[in-house]
Amino acid sequence: MKNSIKATAIAPSNIAFIKYWGKKDEKLRIPTNGSVSVNLSNLFTTTTVEFSKKFEDDLIIYNKIQNNRGRSEKKILTHLDRMRNLAHLKYKAKVITQTNFPTASGLASSASGFAALTLAAVSASGLKLSEKELSILAREGSGSACRSIPDGFVEWLDGNTNNDSYAVSIFPPNYWNLSIITVIITKEQKEISSTLGQQLLISNPFLPVRLSRMKEKNKKVKKYIEKKQFTKFGELLESEALELHAMTLTSIPPIIYWQPDTVRVMKLVKSWRNEGLEVYFTMDAGPNLFLISEEKNEKKLIKKLKENNITDIVVNKPSVGARLVDKHLY
Ligand code: PMV
Repeated sequence: MKNSIKATAIAPSNIAFIKYWGKKDEKLRIPTNGSVSVNLSNLFTTTTVEFSKKFEDDLIIYNKIQNNRGRSEKKILTHLDRMRNLAHLKYKAKVITQTNFPTASGLASSASGFAALTLAAVSASGLKLSEKELSILAREGSGSACRSIPDGFVEWLDGNTNNDSYAVSIFPPNYWNLSIITVIITKEQKEISSTLGQQLLISNPFLPVRLSRMKEKNKKVKKYIEKKQFTKFGELLESEALELHAMTLTSIPPIIYWQPDTVRVMKLVKSWRNEGLEVYFTMDAGPNLFLISEEKNEKKLIKKLKENNITDIVVNKPSVGARLVDKHLY
């Protein structure tokens, strides 16, 4: 190991069509069910990690702010230790990380953040890991981050152990020309983190019903993507998003992630569909929406959004997963 080595990675955020919500193993972040997602081309995190003999302490700068041992910094430090242990590395680290979108508002900032951190830190520590090993490590950092490692359309396999709970690419990004438009309803941080939200799920009386249907849902979504059956695909992912929120609404205590404008956009989507513009919505655990259409309808959809004064949007295509880049953040 040299005295210091630096690496930079970019990782996309991802949006799940079939959701992960609830864990079988809290510590290892092994979910109750498999999930299927797509990586997003215009929501991403860039992270530079440097390990050096000359550093006296770890330093983390997140979106230009030096965090003073807050909750997210602790998660980052624990994750750095995982990689230091694997690489038998004693050096302290400097981590600079930059997202191009608001964090902790249901835009999966932790997914892109932990995928980028994993790849950059693994590379900077001199470890040579497979995509599967990177995905497992990213999962340990923050569950859905494992899906931001492989390319394109991704499945997080329904595993039971540390070694078999990881994500794989099921179709490359250019397999299906989808447009995924993020509608930002609010940039405020959400009140209840997804970690806490998932813990509340355990006592939800509807959980057994949901779990009994997940294998079938994952099978169906993969078939619809493979055959590019957009209507069936859209209907399934929209009802899955509503089911996720049905679970949060019926948790004890309940969590209401929606804002009035969330519901307004949901209703608009339905009315546009009735007019013949085929678009469906999905969401994460937050107030923002992701509108999914085929690329041929993207322009029409953007026009409709503008006409309704919905202007805070990010237009995405399916994207590659985490990758190393030569340009460092410092
Ligand atoms: O990985 P976390 O802890 O941010 O949980 C994310 C869970 C959902 O975004 C709501 C669903 C999913 O599968 O991404």
